[in-house]
Amino acid sequence: MAPIDLSTTYLGLRLANPFVAGASPLGDHLDTVRRLEDAGCAAIVLHSLFEEQISERDTGLIRHMDRVDPQFATVLSYFPEPASYALEPDAYLEHLRRVKAAVKIPVIGSLNGTTPEAWLTFATLIQQAGADAIELNAYTVVTDPGESAPTVERALRQIVADLKRELKIPVAVKLSPFFTAFANVAHELDKAGADGLVIFNRFLQPDIDIPLLAVWPHLELSDSRELLLRLRWLAILRGKVRASLAVTGGVATPNDAFKALLAGADVIQMVSAILRHGPSFFALMRAELLRWMESLEVAGLDAIRGRLSLANTESPGAFERAQYIRTLSGWTSWLGYQAYVRSHAKQRSERPS
Ligand SMILES: Cc1cc2nc3c(=O)[nH]c(=O)nc-3n(C[C@H](O)[C@H](O)[C@H](O)COP(=O)(O)O)c2cc1C
Repeated sequence: MAPIDLSTTYLGLRLANPFVAGASPLGDHLDTVRRLEDAGCAAIVLHSLFEEQISERDTGLIRHMDRVDPQFATVLSYFPEPASYALEPDAYLEHLRRVKAAVKIPVIGSLNGTTPEAWLTFATLIQQAGADAIELNAYTVVTDPGESAPTVERALRQIVADLKRELKIPVAVKLSPFFTAFANVAHELDKAGADGLVIFNRFLQPDIDIPLLAVWPHLELSDSRELLLRLRWLAILRGKVRASLAVTGGVATPNDAFKALLAGADVIQMVSAILRHGPSFFALMRAELLRWMESLEVAGLDAIRGRLSLANTESPGAFERAQYIRTLSGWTSWLGYQAYVRSHAKQRSERPS
């Protein structure tokens, strides 16, 4: 049999395999970046540079507010001081140049923000520093009751259109699942020129510390349970958008990666699994993918990708609704309902006729 080809195309970039290091501190140190490449990681997304950092550097303002203006003191105290970010904007560009010089795999810069404003021009500096692509993370929690879904979606579309107009390198958008009509949002971003959709952002979910009567923001690494939401949307979007599809969130084992490919992912981003097991986990994922493909007797990822997507399902909406109804109607609990049914069956059989 011919050797198995693990290569894939993401954002128009040819990658040796589908495994990518997602935006995180994994790209912060050159020795880690080299170890990731040595282990077979096919591309690296650097951690994000935030809109707030860039606009404060350029204008002294954060979201049009001045730190020295007393009326904004409380709001702006929520944001870190410029020096407490991992890297300030100019240092980010320098770091990107160093990472590019240290490895041969594509390096993707990450911007994190939500407004289609002047800060976006920083993307051209990231391009000049040598990034192979830009990932835009549009993390936001819309809390203003006066801000409507169309307003939020329009701003997102505008950011993508602005970036596409400014840049020659490809642009991926890392998205939240919390849209009323996510398929439409994906379609509109596709039309605006997004080269890739990265699904999905994990939302920070602060807990409450009862003894301290305080909110406790914390970050937990993910596990496979988070994958299912992503699988659903990969399967729905496969074949419906021109943009490449990346999964992020909940790929913890080789089986998770196989599922993401079957649902329709072009690439698989991993962060938590690599933070837990180290860069060599990329080698394990790659080896297990090869083994699985050998067992299926397939020569390349095209034979697998999207095989379980809804691309050929006549009415995906009806299919999803029907699955929902069947699942609820067919539910039985081993411990509860089954025991109940058995005891009734026993009582019935013991009842004198
Ligand atoms: C410590 C840490 C730092 C992260 N930093 C960023 C970041 O700067 N930008 C970003 O878009 N995502 C960031 N993420 C989110 C990851 O890129 C990824 O989307 C998320 O962890 C889900 O993937 P996983 O299940 O493989 O961890 C970070 C995650 C972790 C755990």
